[in-house]
Amino acid sequence: MRKASLLIIFLTGCFGAVSSYAIEEDRVSESQMVIKQFASELKGELIVNLKEGGPINAISVCSEKASMIADRISQEKGWKIGRVSLRLRNPRNAPDVWERKALEAFEESSIKGADIKTLEYYETLNEGGKQVFRYMKAIPVGEPCLTCHGKQIEPDLKAKLKEVYPGDQAIDFSFGEIIGAFSISQSK
Ligand code: HEC
Repeated sequence: MRKASLLIIFLTGCFGAVSSYAIEEDRVSESQMVIKQFASELKGELIVNLKEGGPINAISVCSEKASMIADRISQEKGWKIGRVSLRLRNPRNAPDVWERKALEAFEESSIKGADIKTLEYYETLNEGGKQVFRYMKAIPVGEPCLTCHGKQIEPDLKAKLKEVYPGDQAIDFSFGEIIGAFSISQSK
């Protein structure tokens, strides 16, 4: 029953309302572009910082740099962009109800063998009388991510992460698993 309802949510999200299809299509491709930019900037910063300062110094990249890049893009576009997850490091990145449904649908699809890189979810919602287009894209765990999110985190780094994020759940990931999603909200 739960599986069926998630699938319906996922399908409705993908096909959206027919009347606004063309506009929605533009919004989807714009969201995809912006996320590509966000992801590659963040990954670039991470790799440079991991090499130059080591993982403990790079902790701030995944936190401060991520929110700096997100804020900049949000301002440029007038959107809200961020990262959310079901297994959180920073509670600030907790999903709302809509985002949680999408993350759960991503997990279901991934269990069924879908390619995580293709998983996206979108919908135009009516929020308090305003049309809001929301878009999410799943994030797979890559090799550099395992340093801080994997199963074998160096003891010093592990201690530091525990100190900064006492309730950290964003560990024990394996390569290729879903670690979370980028989430965009565009008000019309
Ligand atoms: C140097 C350590 C480090 C590396 C490497 C790293 N992260 Fe993180 N990650 C963090 C920290 C610290 C946070 C908490 C960010 C915050 O405070 O907002 C975080 C948070 C996140 C979040 C937001 C959800 C949450 O749990 O708060 C996602 C998604 C994420 N990381 C994905 C990745 C991905 C994907 C990679 C590889 C491309 C990666 N991380 C590499 C340290 C790291």
